[in-house]
Amino acid sequence: ALKIATIGGGSSYTPELIEGYIKRKDELPIKEIWLLDIPEGEEKLSIVGEMAKRMVKAAGLDWEVHLTLDRRAALKDADFVTTQFRVGLLDARVKDERIPLSHGVLGQETNGAGGIFKALRTIPVILDIIEEMKELCPDAWLINFTNPAGMVTEAAIKHGGWKKTVGLCNVPIGHTKQAAEKLGLTEDDIFVKYAGINHFHWHRVWDKEGNERTDELIDLIYGPKSEAESHLKNIHSVPFPYEQIKDLGMLPCGYHRYYYIEDEMLKHSIEEFKEGKTRAQVVKQTEKSLFELYKDPNLDYKPKELEQRGGTHYSDAACEVIASIQNDKRTNMVVSVENNGTINDLPYDCAVEVSASVTAHGPENYNWGKFPPAARGILQLMKGMEETVIRAAITGDYGAALHAFTINPLIPGGTMAKTLLDELLIAHKKHLPQF
Ligand code: NAD
Ligand code: G6P
Ligand code: MN
Ligand code: MN
Repeated sequence: ALKIATIGGGSSYTPELIEGYIKRKDELPIKEIWLLDIPEGEEKLSIVGEMAKRMVKAAGLDWEVHLTLDRRAALKDADFVTTQFRVGLLDARVKDERIPLSHGVLGQETNGAGGIFKALRTIPVILDIIEEMKELCPDAWLINFTNPAGMVTEAAIKHGGWKKTVGLCNVPIGHTKQAAEKLGLTEDDIFVKYAGINHFHWHRVWDKEGNERTDELIDLIYGPKSEAESHLKNIHSVPFPYEQIKDLGMLPCGYHRYYYIEDEMLKHSIEEFKEGKTRAQVVKQTEKSLFELYKDPNLDYKPKELEQRGGTHYSDAACEVIASIQNDKRTNMVVSVENNGTINDLPYDCAVEVSASVTAHGPENYNWGKFPPAARGILQLMKGMEETVIRAAITGDYGAALHAFTINPLIPGGTMAKTLLDELLIAHKKHLPQF
């Protein structure tokens, strides 16, 4: 029987997770679900936790749902530990977004200066959790959803030494659905292969006859006659330059917009900033109304309104990874894992986000090989930047943090990098004991 512990159980995403377990009830011999939070999240935990209990009951299941602030109790003998915590909660995200934007520089949850600071706050916490796991649940799988998922996962594997870590993101799920829909096929009728790093990956698509359909999809999704839709609620739909994507020969992910069409995305973000409507501010409102819904003692299913959050389909990733490991299902999934040569252009020991067959012993990556130079160059830069951020997060070295800012393509080097870094260090002081 399984014990699954979720760190950050007070998240509004918890019903998504519970729904995913319920859908897979025949594959998951769950006995205990432990939802853990911290005092700041206690109220949220109790509201969403009661809702989780109602969902389980409505499904006719006898799973125990425990709500706790005691991390050791949650981790003790867990088989799977999933993470969905946000150090500093949404108020910290507001700062990550608004402070850079106040200087005319992109502020975003996982990209640029904001993404770097989310990593600096989160990595010490994940490494602490891993130290406790070594004692309390040494055989558990760590399923990391906490952003920036790529850097947090790399820190867990490489620095925490927790090899049984799988990082997850819902973005590839959306791209796969989009590809199937555009081709008029079902998801089972296509084979999609992804490679890159979290929120910075590309993919190629084949059909069952063995024909590659990537180029056709580039035309269908990004061609002159297509609409420039971003299927992600949190990313503005600015069109990619068609000729460039054609030249790329692979499908980009939604987040590439911040780099490929940097000025237009920045312009849009600055407008939101001026209106007091950065994504974090909008999400705070969404969260409020979601928790109002969750308070309803009659609500015992995941409400449609949760789709307003960018993380829809999160459970299709998290719960399926667990089911696939548990039952050696070998589902083709996109995961953040140790590279191990999957991408020739990146170090063996870094985390990459790639397609893999998820077996009982974890993901077996599908080989990707090399990237075309234009993708290789920016990918290596981004990975080097991430490695530098992780080093700064562990050591608290100011020079390393400044170096990461400087090489990050979305942060101008020089005075601006320093000004921004200093301001963010002060704003987030409470959550940065290493600095
Ligand atoms: P949130 O602000 O609601 O935080 C979730 C919970 O974490 C809160 O209840 C909070 O109290 C708790 N928490 C904070 N610090 C903690 C700690 N040290 N230990 C235990 N719990 C702690 O966040 P959210 O908007 O629900 O998002 C949750 C996380 O999931 C974020 O990190 C977000 O970036 C990430 N996310 C990832 C993806 C993905 O694609 N991987 C998609 C959506 C969200
Ligand atoms: C996408 C990404 C997540 C990110 C989320 C933001 O789904 O994959 O990594 O956290 O969007 O959504 P939000 O609703 O919080 O802006
Ligand atoms: Mn993501
Ligand atoms: Mn820079």
